[in-house]
Amino acid sequence: MSRKARAAICRELNKPIVVEEISVEPPKRGEVTVKLRACGVCHSDLSATNGTLAMQLPLILGHEAAGEVVELGEGVTSLKEGDHVVSSFIYMCGECRFCVVGRPVLCIEQGKAVTTLPDGSVRTRDAKGNPLNIFSGCGVMAEYATMHVDNLVKIDPKIPFDRAALVGCAVTTGVGAVFNTAKVVPGSTVAVFGCGGVGLNVIQGARIAGADRIIAIDTLESKVEMGRKFGATDVLTVKPGEDPTKALKKMTGGGPDYAFECVGSGELAAIAYKAIRRGGLAVVVGVAKPGDSTSVRTMTLPFEEKTLTGSYFGSCVPRIDFPRMLSLYLGGKLKLDELITRRYSINEAPQAFADLESGKNARGVILFQ
Ligand SMILES: NC(=O)c1ccc[n+]([C@@H]2O[C@H](COP(=O)([O-])OP(=O)(O)OC[C@H]3O[C@@H](n4cnc5c(N)ncnc54)[C@H](O)[C@@H]3O)[C@@H](O)[C@H]2O)c1
Ligand SMILES: [Zn+2]
Ligand SMILES: [Zn+2]
Repeated sequence: MSRKARAAICRELNKPIVVEEISVEPPKRGEVTVKLRACGVCHSDLSATNGTLAMQLPLILGHEAAGEVVELGEGVTSLKEGDHVVSSFIYMCGECRFCVVGRPVLCIEQGKAVTTLPDGSVRTRDAKGNPLNIFSGCGVMAEYATMHVDNLVKIDPKIPFDRAALVGCAVTTGVGAVFNTAKVVPGSTVAVFGCGGVGLNVIQGARIAGADRIIAIDTLESKVEMGRKFGATDVLTVKPGEDPTKALKKMTGGGPDYAFECVGSGELAAIAYKAIRRGGLAVVVGVAKPGDSTSVRTMTLPFEEKTLTGSYFGSCVPRIDFPRMLSLYLGGKLKLDELITRRYSINEAPQAFADLESGKNARGVILFQ
């Protein structure tokens, strides 16, 4: 049966998002319908509303959610009705060389499910019956979503939905960038540019990895103070466009071992690379506009053996990393409760986006009844 659901939709670029009643069709083969219970608001959702991420409109937003399985399509055996699940926004074909070696974030078929299900169609329609695209095979900022089974990971039902949702992006992206991409070693020095939902998780990942010094950098003082709560030992409040390289070199006696760019700017990526010490590693996590680029002083590559790399979804394998993050939470090592600054109803979704843009929240989360 088709279900009615309220959903947060981007219809026009650079306009406030709208909340509409949509219909969600039942699952086809290999698909699952989920009743969503909580969905985090990520900067990447905002980026889809302003063209930084070019996605086909109209678009149902949301890629960081948790909910309950309510209907299974033909052939789905790994989940059952009532299971608690978290969304995963990467499509994994399971067969390409990257999937096979355990790097599904690089799946060559990724492009198949950018704004649709993997088969190129959608199960979502507006009140007039017109199809609605979905963010990264998800579109989970809605009361119901029909998704491919590979975009869902079963979780322990003990974990509250709003906390679990955050593992669907911010937590896995940030902590995964530290654990999987950079493989930060104990005793090292880490600088983090941007203390939003993603940056705060890089900070707590670095703390868990045993980093000795963690420097939180943001343009907002309130955000660097949040950084402290997640494990930053030092903070730097900068002006937009300011280059804190000198301050970082001085604070660390030559530069941090690792720097993570969690804002989405080529200029900051260049600063992160410049700031790291000889042999250091700079990781770009933020997603910049398509035309943006960055530069490195070429000579520093051979003479200083520095590395500039990127991290997509924390280089994760969702079915391994989501439960790993949640067990760190249950063991008291990973802070999830503290990440949620404010909870919103789906009707308040436009406010949640405005608050994200003005930097009010560590994470804002939309709760569904
Ligand atoms: N690589 C991935 O897989 C992945 C996944 C999720 C999000 N992202 C991207 O990561 C970035 C961060 O996402 P988020 O949800 O944490 O966003 P956010 O809006 O919650 O946080 C961004 C933070 O950066 C700060 N900031 C802005 N300009 C700055 C500057 N010049 N110097 C230092 N800090 C500055 C803001 O004040 C804010 O605190 C976005 O670009 C998002 O699209 C990437
Ligand atoms: Zn995200
Ligand atoms: Zn693949």
